[in-house]
Amino acid sequence: MTSVLSNPSTATATERTERTATRRRYLMCRPEHFAVEYSINPWMHPDVGVDRDLAIRQWEELRATYVSLGHRVELLDPVPGLPDMVYTANGATVVDGTVLGARFRHAERAAEAAAHRDWFSGAGFERVVEPRFVNEGEGDLLVVGDVVLAGTGFRTDPRAHAEAAAVLGRPVLPLELVDPRYYHLDTALAVLDDTTIAWLPEAFTPASRQVLRSRFPDAIVADPTDAAVLGLNAVSDGRHVVLPAQATGLAATLAGRGFTPVPVDLSELLKGGGGPKCATLEIRG
Ligand code: ARG
Repeated sequence: MTSVLSNPSTATATERTERTATRRRYLMCRPEHFAVEYSINPWMHPDVGVDRDLAIRQWEELRATYVSLGHRVELLDPVPGLPDMVYTANGATVVDGTVLGARFRHAERAAEAAAHRDWFSGAGFERVVEPRFVNEGEGDLLVVGDVVLAGTGFRTDPRAHAEAAAVLGRPVLPLELVDPRYYHLDTALAVLDDTTIAWLPEAFTPASRQVLRSRFPDAIVADPTDAAVLGLNAVSDGRHVVLPAQATGLAATLAGRGFTPVPVDLSELLKGGGGPKCATLEIRG
């Protein structure tokens, strides 16, 4: 085994970094009406059965995991006929208490947007904005420190990027996705803390890869096998990283960088093309 003593420079600061968790507030929606009845991404096969009871148990486990980590979980009421509503990440983007609502690309999910806006208005959020252009919430808009990374290519309209910057008051960094399996930014890139990301370079255009490489030189580059189980669809509080249990390689890499991986099994939600992050909307401020 190569000893760090043989090359002192490999004993990097990151290996010894003490990661700090901060308490989060999340919005989740119990998968009471979850099903795969239509196909709007390559993961969805309506002919493959979904075990809804198992989906609910796995989701309860995810919720219990957040609570045990000290986070606060709010609940959005599930609506019959909206089988993808469990993926709350797509319903809004919330920064400093401002709520940028979503506008869905596909008619099947369109009605979820109003359910989210109503929830935020009812919860006392004063600035809830109905957007003009298609944006699928935190599926494509990921807050990293002071900037918002904004995906496009499959779902979110590129014109929504400027709209998000104006509404949220943060600079937006546009990124273009190229692989239909990674149709939302949060399937190809995970935000670990205010300066650290994990990502799959192959999921982006060469120009976007360049942007990410120069902005995040210390990023964790995920292995394609971990990305292929939606390992990057992870939720971090700065220290604990809740990720799909099948993404064992990524979990080991995270541990080596001082994070604490927290594996969860969401096999049923994966059939709809989502993982832990898709089922979790962060409420900031
Ligand atoms: N079936 C859903 C769709 O295709 C899955 C959404 C996953 N959400 C996410 N944040 N990536 O829209």
